[in-house]
Amino acid sequence: MAILLTGGLGFIGSHTAVQLLNAENDVVIIDNLSNSETEVLRRIRKITGKSPKFYEGDIISSETLDIIFLENKIESVVHFAGLKAVGESTEQPLKYYKNNVSGTINLLQTMERYNVHKIVFSSSATIYGSPKSNPIHENYARSATNPYGRTKLIIEQIIEDLDHEKWNAIILRYFNPIGAHPSGLIGESPLGEPNNLIPIVLKVANSELKCLKVFGDNYDTPDGTAIRDYIHVVDLSDAHVKSIDLLSSRPYGLSIFNIGTGRPHSVLEVIDIFEKVNNISIPHQFVERRQGDVGECWADCSKSNRGLKWRSHFGIEDMLKHAWKWKSKNPSGYLSVNHHDSDVMPL
Ligand code: WQD
Repeated sequence: MAILLTGGLGFIGSHTAVQLLNAENDVVIIDNLSNSETEVLRRIRKITGKSPKFYEGDIISSETLDIIFLENKIESVVHFAGLKAVGESTEQPLKYYKNNVSGTINLLQTMERYNVHKIVFSSSATIYGSPKSNPIHENYARSATNPYGRTKLIIEQIIEDLDHEKWNAIILRYFNPIGAHPSGLIGESPLGEPNNLIPIVLKVANSELKCLKVFGDNYDTPDGTAIRDYIHVVDLSDAHVKSIDLLSSRPYGLSIFNIGTGRPHSVLEVIDIFEKVNNISIPHQFVERRQGDVGECWADCSKSNRGLKWRSHFGIEDMLKHAWKWKSKNPSGYLSVNHHDSDVMPL
């Protein structure tokens, strides 16, 4: 029986593929390569010695999904596939609703057709909007503030509306995934200009950018800069392995978990720690707040510690050390690799 990873060549998906393969699972990946590269497959094989079956395609295509479910005994699905740029989602909302929401509906309908009812969904802390207090509990109100966040919220509600005496679902709300596999072979490789803090810090560290703009220094926080809950991508990936174990241990159900560390850090703290652990200066200047940002967002992880029997292990120092190791070994991400696609399975 195999686990299908939608968007499995992306940042979180590829790290989860590694952890699932290392835990002796059979993995099948579908990815439309809109924000990833087939080079990732080679890296996964280099790390694990195993090659997940790969299908280039889109979850919006019923034909593509039918081929995958007919050719493989899929037991469960980990659903990563989705557009995730907050700014782009405000400029192109329909692209986000079509890709993220319609794509998920097509996936769920296909699963139904093949009598597959186990799913882990990649959600996001962004659905908490501006939380009433921190740390954030799973029962806090949801209020997405942009089309990207609303697609995550809508998909959560779709999953909640399924018959949970038949479906077996886990929703994981990621806080801020950063870092890279300790090998330096896989990491975050955003296509185009990155929006997130760490990929931009890495560009400054690599002299691709002169200076980091810190969005706001007048938040109601100890140093005035915004606070987030940064979690190592390998810890986050392990939460998916634990989720598959939980799904296998029960006939049906619905569970929602925060996946963070419970340890908040401000932008200035991240800059300071990055400079110390990597011995690299990160020039930065304070500018206006970024529209849509909240001052503080960090997780209460007690429910996932208990319910998933999972907890984070890597500290912020390792996250930032591994992030730089990935960048220094792969300055242009996966794009710098010249390769032939001869050994990638065509659909
Ligand atoms: C972190 C902090 C910025 C860039 C978003 C999505 C969330 C998830 C993670 C997909 C904030 C500050 C950033 C910069 C800065 N994505 N910053 N200068 O906004 O917390 O979350 O990405 O699932 O859903 O909402 O992450 O990395 O963009 O920002 O000062 O050049 O760094 O203001 O305080 P964010 P981020």
